[in-house]
Amino acid sequence: PANVLAIDIGGTKLAIGIVSKDGDLLASLRCPTLAHEGPDAVLSRILDLSRTLLKDHPVTAVGVGCGGPLDAEKGIIKNPPNLPGWLDYPLGDLLRQNLGLPVFIDNDANAAALAEYRFGAGRGTRHMVYLTLSTGIGGGIIIDGRLYRGKHGNAGELGHISIKHDGRKCNCGNSGCLEAYCSGTSIAKRARELAAEHPGSVLEKLAGTVEGIRAETVLEALRQQDPLTTSFWEETLDMLASGITSVIHTFDPERIVLGGGITNFGPLLFEPLRARVNKITIPDLNAGVDIVPAELGNHVGILGAAAVALQHQEQEVLA
Ligand code: BGC
Ligand code: NA
Ligand code: ZN
Repeated sequence: PANVLAIDIGGTKLAIGIVSKDGDLLASLRCPTLAHEGPDAVLSRILDLSRTLLKDHPVTAVGVGCGGPLDAEKGIIKNPPNLPGWLDYPLGDLLRQNLGLPVFIDNDANAAALAEYRFGAGRGTRHMVYLTLSTGIGGGIIIDGRLYRGKHGNAGELGHISIKHDGRKCNCGNSGCLEAYCSGTSIAKRARELAAEHPGSVLEKLAGTVEGIRAETVLEALRQQDPLTTSFWEETLDMLASGITSVIHTFDPERIVLGGGITNFGPLLFEPLRARVNKITIPDLNAGVDIVPAELGNHVGILGAAAVALQHQEQEVLA
């Protein structure tokens, strides 16, 4: 049985695992990415963890999910908004040389979309869009049962949909992107700014300090029905709904699957978001689209990276 090594390089977390061809996670290791230390330091952490796992689990290929933009075919990571200092990094070649295995790289969210489609909340659909609300916002588009990759593997950069002309600066260099408002990092940052304007706020009290406010603090304050946080969250939901509505208008999907840490907001996210999207989508385009949580949870990144390698292996068998 051809197991694969799966490497998920997130903005904050690095996850590596061994996955069977049926999507069973046989072993995994995690650690912080520490992306600011630069790509060589991250690579050596990846190699350490990989070698540990490979001792007990031989594999036939390596799949990698990484923030874009990237060149999937050449295995080069271009200049990802959430991996500062990575510039044209030849990750594919370096992994291949060091591990002696074929390596397949894809955008992290494209990979996760593939995993949700194969093994998770997208099963049974033909047209599905995955969005991750994490350090950044990533997207992956399944059209007619296939991941849509575009020319270089960069299709589905849904976090950089513009929702506000001249809006907040985004890590990608533009301003007004969905990611600049609604990623986990941006939600926390906006909440800190809000708390700085309202000394003694519930947010500040919950976190101890303004600087200590995280996305989890926002969730906590919402549960306590803090009015300041509630109106902040409603604004956030409006912006997220704008982005998702554009996606529905573009792709006419059967299902939108949401993953990433912000989905821990649960019903406080999904119910009001569905209502807003319903309200602003052209009714005939919205008929039957549901917005559902991802099913693969913490493992989506690893399973996504695995799905990338498995898909390539299957194609080789067919060819
Ligand atoms: C990047 C995407 C990535 C997403 C999630 C965004 O900032 O542009 O390529 O999928 O973050 O990591
Ligand atoms: Na993508
Ligand atoms: Zn952007």
